[in-house]
Amino acid sequence: MSEVCSTRKERALSPTPPHPLLGARVLVTGGAGYIGSHACLALLEAGARVVSLDNYSNSTPEALRRVRALAEESCAARGAPPPSLDVVEGDLCDLPALRAALRAHPVSAAVHFAGLKAVGESCAQPLRYYHNNVTGTLTLLRALDEAGARRLVFSSSATVYGDPERLPIAEEAPLRATNPYGQTKLTVEDLLRDLARADARWVITLLRYFNPVGAHPSGLLGEDPAGPPNNLAPYITQVAAGRRARLQVFGGDYPTPDGTGVRDYIHVLDLVEGHLAALARGAGGGEARAYNLGAGRGVSVLELVAAFEHASGRAVPYEVVGRRAGDVAACYSDAARALRELGWRATRGVDEMARDAWRWQAQNPHGYRSAQEALS
Ligand code: NAD
Ligand code: UD1
Repeated sequence: MSEVCSTRKERALSPTPPHPLLGARVLVTGGAGYIGSHACLALLEAGARVVSLDNYSNSTPEALRRVRALAEESCAARGAPPPSLDVVEGDLCDLPALRAALRAHPVSAAVHFAGLKAVGESCAQPLRYYHNNVTGTLTLLRALDEAGARRLVFSSSATVYGDPERLPIAEEAPLRATNPYGQTKLTVEDLLRDLARADARWVITLLRYFNPVGAHPSGLLGEDPAGPPNNLAPYITQVAAGRRARLQVFGGDYPTPDGTGVRDYIHVLDLVEGHLAALARGAGGGEARAYNLGAGRGVSVLELVAAFEHASGRAVPYEVVGRRAGDVAACYSDAARALRELGWRATRGVDEMARDAWRWQAQNPHGYRSAQEALS
């Protein structure tokens, strides 16, 4: 292809090939959530017909209203047909509701984001986590199987690697969970591996996310944690915005270049592009294939703080405190398999992540809620 379109003029004349997901009908569970909302938008922009299913336990329908508006704008600008987004309020664990949703909105594939994700909460409420994440997935699989929609992309996590023995972490690394949340991800992965092995009609892809950060560049979609954020990036943006006095840096004595924890931050737009690649190119063949979705680069807490200070033009005061229980010193991916087999790699750097996350925070100081709602 690059030889054929060797000059700029020839490239301009050659039509853009249709996206492989054009016209695909895709169920997105957790479509109103942080990653799900960005995925809905990317799917709509690719010409897929999207059905979002969410119970709004950790999100609001406002996110989907904005997804629709952004998709309409982007389709109109490209002269593409208007986007097709159906929004269903429902719970994963409610089989009759899932059946009804799939009857009303037939799909051929699903991207399964819906789940509870707070590690600390999962230690305090394991039954709730197993029920929601494991029973919920089982119920979803049953409904999809009955509907004949046997192509699935599952949101797994780097948490399934536990404390890694080797860096960077490749997909073959030993799997182990260190908390109930991680155990739900591992249990669902096991379940999906068994299913793919047992029934060749299923095409299942497991995507293990490293540390998603950033927001849509419009500033209209982003991460909207309820209460004090557990994770680093949203905490930093709230400090930069003046909502919190200072960041606590958990540990300054790790065996890392600056002593603080090292992670593999990945822009949420790169992450959702990985889902589109998996939907289009996931192969099945009796295996639920796992892929790391990471940038493949370790970034320390202090490096991320510096990127946000630069992006926001504000100081981010911090104090170094003791290590957080259960934290590992460093965790970053070997993302070569995703490049080789899905043709996907992350292209956005930490400066872009910080810029987009900061724009979201600055434009939406109370997330998707209005200032009045935030006070009540
Ligand atoms: P999120 O909480 O913003 O989104 C999850 C969505 O699922 C929410 O809209 C919530 O209301 C919905 N939901 C939860 N339980 C449901 C149920 N029973 N029925 C219907 N809807 C339900 O989280 P996110 O950051 O967008 O994460 C999406 C997925 O990715 C999760 O499965 C999470 O475990 C996984 N993941 C996230 C991260 C991360 O750092 N954000 C990292 C690794 C893996
Ligand atoms: C989180 C999840 C983990 C998930 C992973 C990838 C938790 C407890 N763990 O872990 O299950 O697999 O993301 O998505 O939520 N930090 C601070 N101060 C803070 C917050 C964090 O110094 O206020 C440090 C941490 O010690 C760590 C780094 O920042 O070194 C990143 O922390 P976090 O954003 O919570 O991500 P993970 O620890 O990777």
